Amino acid sequence: MQENLKKQAASAAIPYLKGCRIIGIGTGSTVNYFIDLLAPIKHQFDGAVSSSEASTKKLLALGIPVLDLNTVGTLDVYVDGADEINSNLQLIKGGGGALTREKIIAAASKSFVCIADHSKLVPYLGNFPLPIEVIPMARSYVARELVKLGGHPVWRENFITDNGNIILDTHRLEIVEPCQLESAINNLTGVVTTGLFAQRPADIVLLASKDGTQTLSMELE
Ligand code: A5P
Repeated sequence: MQENLKKQAASAAIPYLKGCRIIGIGTGSTVNYFIDLLAPIKHQFDGAVSSSEASTKKLLALGIPVLDLNTVGTLDVYVDGADEINSNLQLIKGGGGALTREKIIAAASKSFVCIADHSKLVPYLGNFPLPIEVIPMARSYVARELVKLGGHPVWRENFITDNGNIILDTHRLEIVEPCQLESAINNLTGVVTTGLFAQRPADIVLLASKDGTQTLSMELE
């Protein structure tokens, strides 16, 4: 059932690609369905900028060229999933560990279209442990600093990011002021990226449920 909802959300993103030559592509099971949907219409695009080795592999297998962000400039549309979404379209991401490249592509895109099933919508962010990518030698230092911020960081063992770093999955954070917490975590020396996408939230969230796909957008409110 949840797989069907992920597919439903993925297909709702296709109309947002109108006129788009290069698509920003996220990572995760929902995005995998989106990539599958691109295969039959791939002639409409010059290619994609990918947020992970996993998505790159899948795109290339379907014959969709993967381009370097440095050579393509600003992207029109970035499509990605999320682990949690609040009503301000702020997100927790990084369950798959691809948060840094995801955040870079989100920053470099005019429009961030988030695709998810309705279970991802929450009143407050933070029940899902916040993934934080950290330079390996700073692991213990950053963990101590995260405890001072009220978190309970857990090292994601046997996992190295595509950038060669580690992840601290940080439990029990009370994310009342997402933008402030994002800055506080970004300011910790040794942190590469936090999976809190608050300062650059999604522009549109396509939320699939059995009753249909709801479009959440800050502009419409
Ligand atoms: C990958 O690092 C994440 O940010 C994903 O976007 C997020 O975990 C959503 O994944 P699913 O679509 O598999 O739930």
